[in-house]
Amino acid sequence: LSSYPSYIDLLPSIQTCNITNLPENYFLKYYLYHALTWPQLSFVAVVREYPKVVGYVLAKMEEEPTDGLQHGHITSLSVMRTHRRLGIAERLMRMSQRAMAESHRAHFVSLHVRMSNVAALRLYRDTLGFEVEKVEDGYYADGEDAYAMRLNLQSMW
Ligand code: ACO
Repeated sequence: LSSYPSYIDLLPSIQTCNITNLPENYFLKYYLYHALTWPQLSFVAVVREYPKVVGYVLAKMEEEPTDGLQHGHITSLSVMRTHRRLGIAERLMRMSQRAMAESHRAHFVSLHVRMSNVAALRLYRDTLGFEVEKVEDGYYADGEDAYAMRLNLQSMW
C-alpha cells in the first residue's frame, strides 16, 4: 500500500479479500484513511491472476493513546483460503510491525482477536510473541468476547 496510485487500483480487491474472510468489514473510505494517514504501515500480498490480492494487513497508529505512548494497531488481517499456511500472514505482520517501530517509534502494537479464532491466536501468540493484555467482553457485534493482545516493539527501534 506504500504507493498511492497502486493502492487505489487494489482497493476493490483488498475489500473483497476482507469480505471473503472476516465478518468485520469497512467502508472504502476507511481503507483510504489508513493509506493516506499511515502509508508505511499497511501491506498486501498480490498474485497475477484473479483475485489479485490474496492477503492484506490494514494497520494504523493509535491517534489518541490514553497512556500517551505511541503505539500501532492492527485493524484487520486476512489471507485467502487458497493461500494459507504459506507464511503470508506472518510476513505481512512482521513488515507492519517493523514499519511501526522504524517510522513511528511505536512502543508496542495492539490488536483484538476472537477468543474462538484458533489460527489467528496461534499466529499472534506462538509465532509472533503477542501476549494477552485483557479480555473485552462482548467486543464483537455478535457478542463474542475478544482478547486484547499486544507486542512490545521497542527492541526494533
Ligand atoms: N491452525 C493453527 N495454527 C495456524 C493456522 C491454523 N489454521 N494458521 C496459521 N497458524 C499459525 C501457525 O503457527 C503458522 O506457522 P506454521 O505454518 O509454520 O505452523 C503461523 O501461524 C503462520 O501462519 P501463516 O502461514 O503466516 O498464516 P496464514 O497466511 O495462513 O494466515 C490467518 C493466518 C490470517 C489467521 C488466516 O488463517 C486467515 O485469514 N483467517 C481468517 C481471517 C482471520 O481470522 N484474520 C485474523 C482476525 S484478527 C485481526 O484481524 C486483528
